Amino acid sequence: MSVFDAVAPQFDRHRALPDSAAKAVRAAVLSRLAAQARLLDLGAGSGRVGWPFIAAGDNYTGVDLSFGMLQAFKQRAPQATLVQADGCALPFANRAFDGVLLVQIFGGLKNWRALIDEILRVLRPRGLLLLGRTQAPDGGVDARMKRQLDAILEAPAAANGNVRAQAELHLEERAVAVDNIEAATWTATRTPRGFIERHRNGARFGTLPRDTRERALQQLSGWTVRQFGSLDAPFAETHSFTLRIFTFER
Ligand SMILES: C[S@@+](CC[C@H](N)C(=O)[O-])C[C@H]1O[C@@H](n2cnc3c(N)ncnc32)[C@H](O)[C@@H]1O
Repeated sequence: MSVFDAVAPQFDRHRALPDSAAKAVRAAVLSRLAAQARLLDLGAGSGRVGWPFIAAGDNYTGVDLSFGMLQAFKQRAPQATLVQADGCALPFANRAFDGVLLVQIFGGLKNWRALIDEILRVLRPRGLLLLGRTQAPDGGVDARMKRQLDAILEAPAAANGNVRAQAELHLEERAVAVDNIEAATWTATRTPRGFIERHRNGARFGTLPRDTRERALQQLSGWTVRQFGSLDAPFAETHSFTLRIFTFER
């Protein structure tokens, strides 16, 4: 069982990526790979990023640990090539892929070094690792509420961010080239209530005891009303999708 199995049915609603942004991510990825390049999307999830590759008939393979997430992906794109596997033990030959796409998979991952070793094994020489993430403004509703929730839970500040930063540093050290693409920007309307609903059902938050979760969200609601006036106050924010592209010699 994966913590993502339980959240799979709501994942896309809560982490929505506009269709135009998903298509722009595909275009940015393919701008760096040959047509029909063999692409592995590791931690493909529910296909939020992967669906345009399937729709266009690209040489795309999605892998995920969570059966629930892959089921959601299959519903969206029945013809997708999807494999349930752990990224640390991939059922593929050495050098089987030209590119590996990783989108928001490092958060909460303990064995990220083993995952990177395994990616490098399945990448061909001069293959690309494309690290994607959506970014919301640091001063926006989501970021401010996340910091407050971490403070309420006394969680180590930005624990997920630290894993990602460590993994990125490790990748930078091993790569022969690194560059960045801003694949898409869009306007998203956020409300404090939206943040609370997403977190109530979040994969990792959902593993905390029920009492702890409810108490934390109650405290957060009180803080939010004082800060923003209402849980339903809408805020238009600019979100973006960025790709960091690492080239490896082997
Ligand atoms: C936050 S979701 C992101 C999904 C997708 N990349 C996206 O951006 O929509 C993280 C995904 O990584 C998967 N995952 C986490 N650890 C994994 C591992 N060791 N091997 C394969 N998939 C893993 C989870 O099951 C989940 O579907």
